[in-house]
Amino acid sequence: MSEGAAGGTGGVEARGLVRSFRRDGRELRVLDGAELSIAPGEVVALFGESGSGKSTLLSILGGLDDGFAGSVRLSGVELSGLAEPERSRLRARTVGFVFQDHNLLPRLTVSENLLLPFAFRRGERPGPEAASEALESVGIAPLARERAARLSGGERQRAAVARALVTRPRLLLCDEPTGSLDGANGRRVAELLVSLARGRGVAVLVASHDPSLWRGADRALELSGGRLRARLAGAA
Ligand SMILES: Nc1ncnc2c1ncn2[C@@H]1O[C@H](COP(=O)(O)OP(=O)(O)OP(=O)(O)O)[C@@H](O)[C@H]1O
Ligand SMILES: [Mg+2]
Repeated sequence: MSEGAAGGTGGVEARGLVRSFRRDGRELRVLDGAELSIAPGEVVALFGESGSGKSTLLSILGGLDDGFAGSVRLSGVELSGLAEPERSRLRARTVGFVFQDHNLLPRLTVSENLLLPFAFRRGERPGPEAASEALESVGIAPLARERAARLSGGERQRAAVARALVTRPRLLLCDEPTGSLDGANGRRVAELLVSLARGRGVAVLVASHDPSLWRGADRALELSGGRLRARLAGAA
């Protein structure tokens, strides 16, 4: 896949990313020329020590943080310089997020949890069929009417993946999606994300501390000193 394809129809492409924070009156440069490109259908695992900037990178790529320098092309649209309303619209249309904590509301049903983000949104809203289709694709369709509180940890994380899929995103950004699961459930979620990427042609970037879970990824990157480098094959 050419570099253009990554930032074009589906994937994401970042060039020369710089992101700094102030700490104790000094500049902490977390990203310092980071570059990456992920094509539709590709799964890229992201490793790096705690504090290396993985979550910071995901926030920028997903249009949650605009305090960066450099270029991010998301589905063909340049993020830098985009005003907030356009950035949110682009994010809502193209990006799905999965975090370590599922953030489901325990008293709502699984299906209600999936549609909740759209309850107060004007314009296009996914209907209940979008929720059932997403739950189907993560293998928990029978749990649609169950309250989130009654799901196991692994099922909740699958529901969180389904919630990220409801809008049919082109890019799925996952921040330690298996971090609160045991080994077996972690593997199931990792396999699920890989098969979703392949099946739906979604670009997937997964930040993780556990290389053993991501052997199915197409590539692995290491974030260190503010830059991304390829991790050796077999190391992921
Ligand atoms: N909003 C912020 N303000 C100030 N410093 C920040 C902010 N966000 C992140 N940082 C700092 O940037 C660095 C990178 O943080 P980040 O959360 O991206 O790391 P990480 O690689 O995701 O770590 P972990 O593996 O522990 O999740 C840390 O030193 C963090 O304290
Ligand atoms: Mg993090």
